[in-house]
Amino acid sequence: MKKRMLTGFRPTGKLHLGHLHGNIKNMIENQEKYENFFFLVDWHALSTEYQNPENIRGNLIECLIDLLSLGIDPSMTHLYRQSDIHEIPELTLYLSMITPLSWLERCPTYKEQKKELKSKDLSTLGFLSYPVLMAADILIVNADIIPVGEDQLPHLEITREIARRFNSLYGKYFTEPVELLSESTRVLGTDGRKMSKSYGNAIFLSDDAGTIKKKVRMMITDPQRIKLSDPGRPEICNVFSYYRMYRQDDLEEAGKRCRNASIGCTACKDELAEIIYHSLEGFQERRNKIKKDLDYVYGILEQGKKYVGEIAAGTISEVRRKMGID
Ligand code: TRP
Repeated sequence: MKKRMLTGFRPTGKLHLGHLHGNIKNMIENQEKYENFFFLVDWHALSTEYQNPENIRGNLIECLIDLLSLGIDPSMTHLYRQSDIHEIPELTLYLSMITPLSWLERCPTYKEQKKELKSKDLSTLGFLSYPVLMAADILIVNADIIPVGEDQLPHLEITREIARRFNSLYGKYFTEPVELLSESTRVLGTDGRKMSKSYGNAIFLSDDAGTIKKKVRMMITDPQRIKLSDPGRPEICNVFSYYRMYRQDDLEEAGKRCRNASIGCTACKDELAEIIYHSLEGFQERRNKIKKDLDYVYGILEQGKKYVGEIAAGTISEVRRKMGID
């Protein structure tokens, strides 16, 4: 039997290159190797957006169209909506019985986000138990491999701890999942910070050629390279970090022409903008086509709900039995 690969995605807005090079690419590249689960986590979105939830549903459909257009293939990957699987909150409740508060309170993402998202009141039970909900997402199908970005590692650690605790209390049942980190978990935005919609430094998959060119032109290169004839240092250049992702084949050549000053930064940037745009061209075409057939898109969610719902029901009846609630 194939191992199970699973990842979740928060439907909070348009997708950008940071998303693509994070877990999405890993899901696409490994699609044939595993049995795949890719779902949109609207309950997780609600834990931070509960004051303004009206965009979650629309974002969810847009995200799903993005994923399909990028090459997530519904014949190989179960695509579904978290809130369609009612066994997930039930499992969250059971897991919350055995999760010490201290595991959640010391979770670095919890502390960090509470501090950073000051405009939102995150002193809620729902936000504190975000990692328990995520553990339930994973354990409900007993997934083996979880493609995530580095920022999610503490949540995965808590998932393993909960699984271990469950197994030692009630007998072995849950698999301890392992992460699959992408090579480039930290795609830099145009300002050199991590790419994020909220930092205003993102290149979106829906950007047109002109917008991409403008954004790439803003990227900071080697600050010591003032004149065209100054040799550059690709190892500290933001533009070059993109060449690493897009031009693996002749990376050495790309680095050399910077070091020996045979290409200027502007020309180098325009070349990169072209490469990025061409890599997205087919995507935008496919997206427009899929968007015209919403019945197809909703049908995929229905299929996912049915398939994953059955697995989830099996897990819950076993958990109920083990915990004495059957
Ligand atoms: N917390 C993840 C994020 O913000 C999304 C997520 C929810 C997830 N449940 C998951 C990722 C299960 C992997 C597996 O990106």
